[in-house]
Amino acid sequence: MTLPTNLRIAGDRLLWRIETLAKIGDTGDGGCRRLALSDEDRRGRDLLVSWMRELGLEIRADRIGNILGIMPGETDGPAVMLGSHIDTVATGGRYDGALGVLAGLEVVAALKEAGIAPKRPLAVMAFTNEEGARFQPDMMGSCVWTGALSVEEAYAAQDGHGLAVGGELRRIGYAGESEPGFLPAHAYLELHIEQGPILDAEGGGIGAVMGVQAITWLEFALDGEANHAGTTPMSYRRDAGYAAGRIIAHAREITRAIEGQVANAGQIAFEPGNVNVVPRRALFTMDIRNPDDGRLAEAERRLRAFAEATAGEEKVGLAIRDLARFPAVRFDERLVEAVEAAARTFDLPVRRMVSGAGHDAQLMARIAPSAMIFVPSVKGLSHNPQEYTAPHDLIAGANVLLAAALAIANG
Ligand code: GLV
Ligand code: MN
Ligand code: MN
Repeated sequence: MTLPTNLRIAGDRLLWRIETLAKIGDTGDGGCRRLALSDEDRRGRDLLVSWMRELGLEIRADRIGNILGIMPGETDGPAVMLGSHIDTVATGGRYDGALGVLAGLEVVAALKEAGIAPKRPLAVMAFTNEEGARFQPDMMGSCVWTGALSVEEAYAAQDGHGLAVGGELRRIGYAGESEPGFLPAHAYLELHIEQGPILDAEGGGIGAVMGVQAITWLEFALDGEANHAGTTPMSYRRDAGYAAGRIIAHAREITRAIEGQVANAGQIAFEPGNVNVVPRRALFTMDIRNPDDGRLAEAERRLRAFAEATAGEEKVGLAIRDLARFPAVRFDERLVEAVEAAARTFDLPVRRMVSGAGHDAQLMARIAPSAMIFVPSVKGLSHNPQEYTAPHDLIAGANVLLAAALAIANG
């Protein structure tokens, strides 16, 4: 790899940007809450746009609120895109998503400061609502960008209070005018924290991500009958809460039976929700994932069959709704090799791995050669205020992004 000698991102400034963005939605325990299209998201976006402006980038927002900062290349045409997201889950950390976007800014800054114009344009991208914590599906901005979801479908998605994406996007001033997908992609690269324990346990270094496992999110609604918790004999009960508990426990059984399977319920609510009332209704979500599409389909089939049998036994109604569904993705081999080569430029150990988390890259892979770069997450913690990646790893990952992006943009 031919990287101009001493070309590096400004590490201190990357760390400062991460800390500065993390102040918006700071939860006081090391974490961040910048739910998609909230006031905090708006302030985060405003900060990002101000930084893009300082760098002299052409700034565009598309109709779903994806933000692009474009640096022209020597030639026009498809851009090398460097993206991720700045929204967080409700109890998130400060690195998930933010690192990839802010490192993208530092890649552009390093090139500008060195007076280097890449052959192809570069675009730094922040996708709307990657997390899906407030509105489903997750990866909404990249779904719309790649045509997997229409703008109208995305606008109609509602949060738990009945507020819709379209209205919230307009409210925060980020319903842009550009058509999603307006800028063709030559390639897409995403730097991200691993969010799992492997790199940390293996002594650090860089992950060259080969793909992303398949993801399905389901919502289960069980409808039984509210009744007195003391007087109702067990045989008279139609307990929606009990049925929910059995189904959730069975998901764990399925993970023991199917290779690579992970599963958990993430949200649950009982109605009417009184200590002394048999629950009339239980509503819960399941997140089930597997690196293999066929095995995930089998896990889902078993879970649905068990849910139906359990609902029948307990005489409760059952409705299952799809919240999100993404097949497993394999990234572009040449891009994965470019990431490995970039890591070796800096004498960093590099290992190939599959992402357990969902990422915008898995959608971008549908329209352009794509790959990801992982850096270690201490103890594998993520979606947790204690999420942490050491400064030297953040900087190393950003330098790998720089080297890989330049090689691809000039290649
Ligand atoms: C995104 O953070 C996911 O749910 O994997
Ligand atoms: Mn993320
Ligand atoms: Mn996340």
